[in-house]
Amino acid sequence: MEKQFAILSKRWGTSFPNLKLVRSDFQKIRFKKIERPYFFFGNPPFVTNRKGKSRWNNLFADFVETSLKNINGVGSLQFILPLSVAFSRDYSDLRKCMLEHNRNISLSHFDNIPDTLFKSGKPEHTNSNKANSQRCSILTVRPADTLRIRSTSLIRWSKYDRKEILSQSPQYHEISSYRFNDQFPRPENSLILKYITQSLGGIQLSSLLSNNGKCKLYVSVVARNYIGFREGHVPNSHQLCFSSKRDFYRALLILSSDLFFDYWRTIGDGFHVTKGNILNFPLHDHLDEVVFPKLTTTQRIWADRDKYRKTKLNSGKITSSYDFSKRMPSLMKEYWFLKQETKC
Ligand SMILES: C[S@@+](CC[C@H](N)C(=O)[O-])C[C@H]1O[C@@H](n2cnc3c(N)ncnc32)[C@H](O)[C@@H]1O
Repeated sequence: MEKQFAILSKRWGTSFPNLKLVRSDFQKIRFKKIERPYFFFGNPPFVTNRKGKSRWNNLFADFVETSLKNINGVGSLQFILPLSVAFSRDYSDLRKCMLEHNRNISLSHFDNIPDTLFKSGKPEHTNSNKANSQRCSILTVRPADTLRIRSTSLIRWSKYDRKEILSQSPQYHEISSYRFNDQFPRPENSLILKYITQSLGGIQLSSLLSNNGKCKLYVSVVARNYIGFREGHVPNSHQLCFSSKRDFYRALLILSSDLFFDYWRTIGDGFHVTKGNILNFPLHDHLDEVVFPKLTTTQRIWADRDKYRKTKLNSGKITSSYDFSKRMPSLMKEYWFLKQETKC
C-alpha cells in the first residue's frame, strides 16, 4: 500500500500528508462515527469462510457488508468482487443491504475468456477454468437522491483490446426497475433486457416439458460461445422431456437461438447452463408467432445434425456436442420486427 501511494505521489506530483495507514484485520476495526462520509475501496480477499464463522460463504461479502453499514446513506464504496455477487442466492441478502438507502449502484462485469482481469491466475489450479482469473464485478455505491442501479454486460475482450477496454468507461444499462430471480442482471444488450422485462410473470419454457414425455433433448451443462446439445443422456447434460415432436422442436429452436443465448449471458454465470436457466426462460406472448413458421427448418437442421457436431478433448476423453448457433434462424431480430409490424 505504501508503495502504491509512493507511485501515485510521483505520478501526480502530489503528497498525501494526512494519510495514516492502519494495518489491521478489517473485521476487527471499530469504525468511529465521523462527520465526513467514509469511502471504502479495494480488492478484498475471495476466500471461503469456515463453516459457522460468518453469515456469508465468502469473506469478500463480510468486507462489503461492513463497508455498507459504515457508509450508511452518505458514504461510498468501490470493490472488485466475484461475479457471483450479482446473481448468487448466497448473496441475495447482501444485494438487499445495498438497496437499503437511496444510492447510485453501478456494476461492471468481466468475463475470464479470452482475456482475464487479473493476469496471474491461481497457479495451484491445473484446471484451466480455475487457473484463469475469476469472472469479476466491480461494484460502486454512491449516495443519491433516488435509488438507481446500472449494470453492464458480462464484458469479454481479447488481450489486444485489453488496454482500451480497461481504460474506458463501459456501457451501462439501467436496471433500476428490473428484478429477475432477485439478481442484478448483466444485460447482453438492451433488446434482451426489454424482452425479459416484458415477459416477466408470464409462462416459462418449463411449460413445454412433460415429465413422462418420450421426445428427449439433451443440453450441455456448460457453454461459452454457444448452447451445446448432446446425443443421449451423457454425463454433464440436462435431459428435457417433451410429449410431442412439436414441443421438442420449439424448445430446440428457442434454446439454440440468439434470444436464449443473450438471455443466458444476461442472467447466467457465463459458464454453467443450469436447469433453472433453461426452465425459467420466459416465453413472451408473441414468441410462438415467430417460432412456429420456423419449425420445419428446425426439424431439417436437427435431421442434419451431424454437420453441426463439434468435438473436443476433455481430460483425455473426446466429447462431442452440436452447435446450431450459426444455422438457426435469429429469433431476436424477427421478434422485434414482428412487434413493430403488429403496432402499425
Ligand atoms: C485480493 S488481495 C488484494 C491485495 C491488494 N489490495 C492488491 O490489490 O494488490 C486481498 C488482501 O486482503 C488481505 N486480507 C485478508 N483477510 C483480511 C482481513 N480480515 N483484514 C484485512 N486484510 C485482509 C490479504 O492478505 C490480501 O492481501
